[in-house]
Amino acid sequence: MTESPSRGAEIAVLGAAGKTGTAVVAALEGLADVRRVVHTARRPGDFAVDLETGAGLNEALSGCRGVYFIAPNVHPDEPALLRNALAAAVSAGVEHVVYHSVAWPYTPLMPHHVDKARCEDVLRTFGGLRWTVLQPCAYAENFGAVLDGSATTVELPYSPDATFSFVRLADVAGVAARVLSEGPDIHHGATYELGGPEALSVRELCDRAGGPVSVKQVSVDEWMSRHGRDLTDDGRARLSAMFEFYDRYGFLAGGAMFESLLGRPPAPVT
Ligand SMILES: NC(=O)c1ccc[n+]([C@@H]2O[C@H](COP(=O)([O-])OP(=O)(O)OC[C@H]3O[C@@H](n4cnc5c(N)ncnc54)[C@H](OP(=O)(O)O)[C@@H]3O)[C@@H](O)[C@H]2O)c1
Repeated sequence: MTESPSRGAEIAVLGAAGKTGTAVVAALEGLADVRRVVHTARRPGDFAVDLETGAGLNEALSGCRGVYFIAPNVHPDEPALLRNALAAAVSAGVEHVVYHSVAWPYTPLMPHHVDKARCEDVLRTFGGLRWTVLQPCAYAENFGAVLDGSATTVELPYSPDATFSFVRLADVAGVAARVLSEGPDIHHGATYELGGPEALSVRELCDRAGGPVSVKQVSVDEWMSRHGRDLTDDGRARLSAMFEFYDRYGFLAGGAMFESLLGRPPAPVT
């Protein structure tokens, strides 16, 4: 465990070892001193916490000026995890908490989105801290194997023609880094929707990626039997609801605020 060299100067990224967290830590490089906060300590310098029990949070957030909160995917009680982090942030005197939400948080047909809407409410009403919310749409990197050319087939549990405002994760991370480094004097009280530059289906994303990729729609049950074996029953139910929603409505979000925060248009998926 490393000592904070300059108390109050660091930004703590909770969930730093995950897909989103790795991108946010990389984007913060050069803009701010970063404290990687991970579930299980992975390398010297990491701070290990358990968001469920709150273990390690006080030490991890002590002396930080900002916190970026990234929740584990489809957790059964995300608001409880956020409350644990906010309590530690307030007692550590953190100035600014930025919550990684999602576009369309209040969508009753998707319970894990509704939990993010609840989290936004927890953040706004907790007291004792200043805050910002980021609401990204679906990441193009969810189809990373298509983007890097290693996939030749994609199995989808929803229509390949449903449309999404796919975002590039590096762009989302760029906005997170800007908001964290500029801090609450500029960004307190703001909720920023981050949608990509166009409405694109997964079929179109695969066509754009270059290599020949066949896209096959399968039932949600079939998809779960192959790809959802490690999920809890609750996790499977939440993801299934999301796939059914995508099938009917797609998932879109605006990009005007994204462009303004990036200082350029958000990148296309390919
Ligand atoms: N994918 C998208 O298109 C998209 C779009 C918008 C928003 N989001 C949201 O972004 C968030 C992160 O997604 P992701 O794909 O980056 O997730 P991820 O790669 O699974 O990362 C989640 C991180 O949370 C950590 N974690 C798990 N349980 C924990 C615990 N009890 N205490 C502390 N840390 C714990 C994990 O650490 P370990 O690996 O050590 O367990 C992991 O580093 C999710 O809430 C998701 O809903 C995703």
